[in-house]
Amino acid sequence: MAEISGTAKLPSSGDKHGEATERLWVAFVTGVIVLLVAVVVYTSVHWGFHPPSQVETIESTSLHKGGEFAEANLGTAIAPDGSAVVRVVAQQYAFIPNCLVVPAGKPVTIRLASADVVHGFIVEGTNVNAMVVPGYVTTVRTTFQEPGERLMPCHEFCGVGHQAMWAHVRVVDASSFPNDADKQKAVNCAS
Ligand code: CUA
Repeated sequence: MAEISGTAKLPSSGDKHGEATERLWVAFVTGVIVLLVAVVVYTSVHWGFHPPSQVETIESTSLHKGGEFAEANLGTAIAPDGSAVVRVVAQQYAFIPNCLVVPAGKPVTIRLASADVVHGFIVEGTNVNAMVVPGYVTTVRTTFQEPGERLMPCHEFCGVGHQAMWAHVRVVDASSFPNDADKQKAVNCAS
């Protein structure tokens, strides 16, 4: 057995250069941490960014067989109070429907489910930015203030066709929304 020597040399108190470097490093790391916390606070308070909080499960392999994400339900449905619920399926390599239509100035809830792998989506110029994990429903709430056309790309690498996976979001004036409230039918840009 090796003998343990008690004479290990501690840095001498005269090692001013080493100590200064250490203090500089501590200050730098502290600065990085403060900056990261500031970014999180700024984006969540100022831009309204927040992680999707609902943990709602769904059977990804049978979305097409019926239920909330059956084909006939995909698109935008308008509630009596004028708010909108948009249901979208993400799959390699498209969003269905690939052009969403939403009313401007009204609360919009977007619900996405993946039929295969992990996808992501972001709507340019808005606080809509989330992952779509198979087995879970991703719910994002927002309000689109200005009418116009916005891109909604997939931002999570999902396979060889990833870079071609994107949809459009068409924000229209609430009064010209192509809604048939009586039929409660989900609509998209083609409606
Ligand atoms: Cu879907 Cu990348």
